[in-house]
Amino acid sequence: MADGFARRDFLKTAAALGAPAILKGQGASEKLNIGWIGVGTRGYAGLDWLNKAAPGQVAVTAICDTYTGYLARAKDRIQTIYGISPKTYVDYRELLADKSIDAVFIMTPEHLHHDMTIAALRAGKNVYIEKPLAHTIEEGFDIVNEWKKSGKIVQVGTQNRSSSLYKKAKEMVEQGMIGDIHYVRAFWYRNSPPNDPAWRYVIPPEANPQNTDWPKFLGPAAKREWDPQRYFQWRLYWDYSGGISTDLLVHQTDIVNFVLSKTVPQSCMASGGIYRWTDKTDDRDVPDTLSALYEYPDRFHINYSCYFGNVHYGYGEQFCGNEGTLEVLNRQDLHFYPEKYRGADSGITSRAEVHLNGMKDFNENDGAINHFRNFIDAVRGHGTVIAPPTVGQQAAISGHMATLSFKHSKKVLWDDRNEKYSFV
Ligand SMILES: NC(=O)c1ccc[n+]([C@@H]2O[C@H](COP(=O)([O-])OP(=O)(O)OC[C@H]3O[C@@H](n4cnc5c(N)ncnc54)[C@H](O)[C@@H]3O)[C@@H](O)[C@H]2O)c1
Repeated sequence: MADGFARRDFLKTAAALGAPAILKGQGASEKLNIGWIGVGTRGYAGLDWLNKAAPGQVAVTAICDTYTGYLARAKDRIQTIYGISPKTYVDYRELLADKSIDAVFIMTPEHLHHDMTIAALRAGKNVYIEKPLAHTIEEGFDIVNEWKKSGKIVQVGTQNRSSSLYKKAKEMVEQGMIGDIHYVRAFWYRNSPPNDPAWRYVIPPEANPQNTDWPKFLGPAAKREWDPQRYFQWRLYWDYSGGISTDLLVHQTDIVNFVLSKTVPQSCMASGGIYRWTDKTDDRDVPDTLSALYEYPDRFHINYSCYFGNVHYGYGEQFCGNEGTLEVLNRQDLHFYPEKYRGADSGITSRAEVHLNGMKDFNENDGAINHFRNFIDAVRGHGTVIAPPTVGQQAAISGHMATLSFKHSKKVLWDDRNEKYSFV
């Protein structure tokens, strides 16, 4: 009997008997074997972050990517960081068949998340899946259901939850610093020079149909001819992405849910368009300007906006309480301001203003490294993940509602009991 099977059977039996399972990687010297699917922008950066998150506890033993240029780059980096030469794959199913792999990181385009996560769970792997959980609401529920059956650890890549700054924000809200809260303003503004349009990321000049597996990139999406723009700039096309809604907005609805202990909105109205990047040669589908208004069941509202033509106000969430305002700007600066009524001192000003800086006060750029550590700890049997699929799906639902509202020019209602949306 293969070693992997024996261990898995033991764990199942131990769990069934309620006995404390001895998990691989719990011992100080035993490393978890990691498989990595997708070593593009996020995936490549993550190789270093994982080593920082769990030094000496993990080894990236296998990588998969459909562009051989990125595979070679990642292999080289892993040799430098981990001192090992990982196996390389173009087909993720072959990587998943490796019984020695304990957990996989999936950092591929959105439309591939569903099939890859389900296959990984069925292969008995623990999974770190990048946000958004999936490309549609229905696919997200498939993942949630598969995860519940699997008994495996799954962390969704909404890493702000693991940031000390946002944890502090949550603590301050729970302590009553801002009083009752019915309104959040959240925004993400970006700009780039006219010759560098938003999300038109660099296409490696040597990429071609021979070194890039186009059919595997397409996966479940509509078949079409090789198109390097779609391959390397997939965020701009509905077939592979929800655009702003699922790429950016989900981070912010997720963190509002986290700080305020919310789950899903009951309605969304979104509007916008392609207003900034209108060059005739630019065939993008997704808007570069989007606003979304959310109502939650308990007298709570999120006013969200995103625009790719002006960066002045940057990134932020502003929690507007009746007794104070808490804002987190650019994921680096937390400010608390006590509320004043008609400019006069309300008595609330005895709560002093607060300013915390992520780097200065917590030595953190954002929550990414903590989020990886939280996942690895959970796989090793220490604690639970902060962003399981149920939570990832809640954030994704808000993103998909915005896309549906935008595409249909209608308000979308969410029926949480029946897990269905409708239009009004
Ligand atoms: N949490 C965050 O803050 C954050 C930030 C950026 C990106 N992301 C997420 O990370 C994921 C990847 O985004 P990215 O910016 O790195 O995209 P990317 O295009 O740079 O990288 C995607 C990689 O997947 C590879 N790929 C495509 N099809 C494949 C297949 N069938 N099998 C194996 N590999 C395949 C591509 O070759 C590429 O290397 C997305 O889900 C994105 O939303 C999250």
